[in-house]
Amino acid sequence: MDYDTEQLRQADLAHVLHGNTNLYDYVRGAGPIVLVKGNGAVVTDSDGKEYIDGLAGLWNVNIGHGRTEIADAVAQQVNAVGYVPTMLNLANVPSINLAAKLAQITPEGINRFYFACGGAEANETAFKSVRYFHSVQGRKDRVKIISRHMAYHGVAVNTMAATGLPQFWQNFGPPAPYIVHIPAPYCYRCAYGKTYGQCELDCATALEGAIQAEGEDSVAAFIGEPVQGAGGVIVPPKEYWPIVRDICSRYGVLLIADEVITGFGRTGTYFGVEHWHIKPDLMSMAKGITSAYQPLAAVGFADKVFDGMAQPGAAYMHNYTYSGHPVVCAAALKNIEILERENLVQRSAEMGRYLNERLAELRDYPFVGETRGLGLIAAIEFVADKKTKAKFQPQQKFGAQLTKLTRERGLLSRAGDEYLALSPPLVIGKEQIDSAVDTIKAALTSIQV
Ligand SMILES: Cc1ncc(COP(=O)(O)O)c(C=O)c1O
Repeated sequence: MDYDTEQLRQADLAHVLHGNTNLYDYVRGAGPIVLVKGNGAVVTDSDGKEYIDGLAGLWNVNIGHGRTEIADAVAQQVNAVGYVPTMLNLANVPSINLAAKLAQITPEGINRFYFACGGAEANETAFKSVRYFHSVQGRKDRVKIISRHMAYHGVAVNTMAATGLPQFWQNFGPPAPYIVHIPAPYCYRCAYGKTYGQCELDCATALEGAIQAEGEDSVAAFIGEPVQGAGGVIVPPKEYWPIVRDICSRYGVLLIADEVITGFGRTGTYFGVEHWHIKPDLMSMAKGITSAYQPLAAVGFADKVFDGMAQPGAAYMHNYTYSGHPVVCAAALKNIEILERENLVQRSAEMGRYLNERLAELRDYPFVGETRGLGLIAAIEFVADKKTKAKFQPQQKFGAQLTKLTRERGLLSRAGDEYLALSPPLVIGKEQIDSAVDTIKAALTSIQV
C-alpha cells in the first residue's frame, strides 16, 4: 500500500499532541517517521525504509511484530463477546484464564491479579492497595511510598511523583505528597562516591535510614524496578535486592516490584526479580504481558497481602471500566503461549549475552563511559569527558545528533545526551544485533561535538 508521507506528517503536526515532546519545537519541525508495518524485529516506514526496532516499540514488543496469531485470538474474542466488566459479580473467560496462568508463572505465593490498561494504572493500583492493606488492618497512618532517584513508574499524579526523574515533574505543579526517594543503585555514578566491591551497599541500606527518618509507622511500601529502565538501564549488584527485601520485611513495609519493563522475558528470566531470588509482595506488570498488541497491565498480590486486604466489612472500591477486558486478556494469553512455545525467555538470555558482549566493544570508543545490561535490555552511557565523567551540555545536541545518525542508518533506539538504550524484540537475530552495534559505532565516529 502506498502512503502520502508528507500529507501524513502535516496532519500529524496539525492534530496529534505528542507526549514527552517539546511542543513548540515539534510543530515547527519536519514531522515524525510514520511506521506502517512490522515483522519480527524490523519495522517499515511509510516510504518503505526498514529499521531494526532496537527498543521493541517502547520496551514492549517482546514477541516481535507481525504476529497474525494474536490478530486471530483478538478477532475470536471480539466475535464471542467484546466486553464484560469484572465488577458487579460478572467475569469473563480470558481474564479468568489469564489470572490463573499468571499465578503459575509469577513467583510462588503471588496468586491474585488485578487488571488495568497500562503501567501507570497498575502502579497507582499498587499504591492504593498498599494503603488499603494497612488501613483495613487499623494502620491508617501507613501511607508513604519510598521510591528511588532515576526510577520510572508512570506519569499519573502519584506515579509521576514516584518517578525519580525531575524532568517529568516540571510545570505539573507540586508533586503528590507522601512519596520520598532514596538513591539508585547506580554504581557508575555512586551517590555515596564509593566503588562497588569496596562499599557496604549504602544505596540498599539507605532504605532503612529513610524508613526510620520518615517514621516506620508512616511507611506503606517501597517500589522499585528490578532493573531501572527509563532511568538508564541500571542493573543493581547481586546483594542489592536481598538487602532491600530484608529491610522491608523487618519494618512491615510492603515491597512492590515494578516489572513493567522487566517482565515477560526482557532480562533473560520470566521476571526480573528472579535474578536476585526475592519474592515481592506486589508486582506490577504491563508492556510484555501482551507484547503491546493490546493495552494491558496487571498487579499481582502475594497471598499475605490479599488476605490482609480481604477484611470483613470493607469494600475495595477501586475499579477501572476496562479492568480485565476480555479482548485484551485474550491477546495476553496468546502472547504468553507464543513466548513459551518459542522459548523466548531463554532466547533473551542467550541473545542478551551476545548483545552485551558486542556493546562492550564500544567501551574504547569516544564518549562511551560504560555499557551495561541484563538479558535483552542494555544501555551505553555517554560522557563528554571519559576521565571526569562530565556530561554533555544540552547545546551540544549529542542525543539529537545520535538519534538522527542512527535513524539514517536504519536503527530505532532511545538515544539521549546521557545514554542510548536498546531493548529489542526477543526474536532478534545475531546479524541484526551486529547491524545495530555497527550502526552505533558508525554514528559515534561521525558525531560532531
Ligand atoms: C518501569 C515502568 N513502570 C511504569 C511505566 C508506565 O507505564 P505506562 O506508560 O504504560 O503507563 C513504565 C513505562 O515505560 C515503566 O517503564
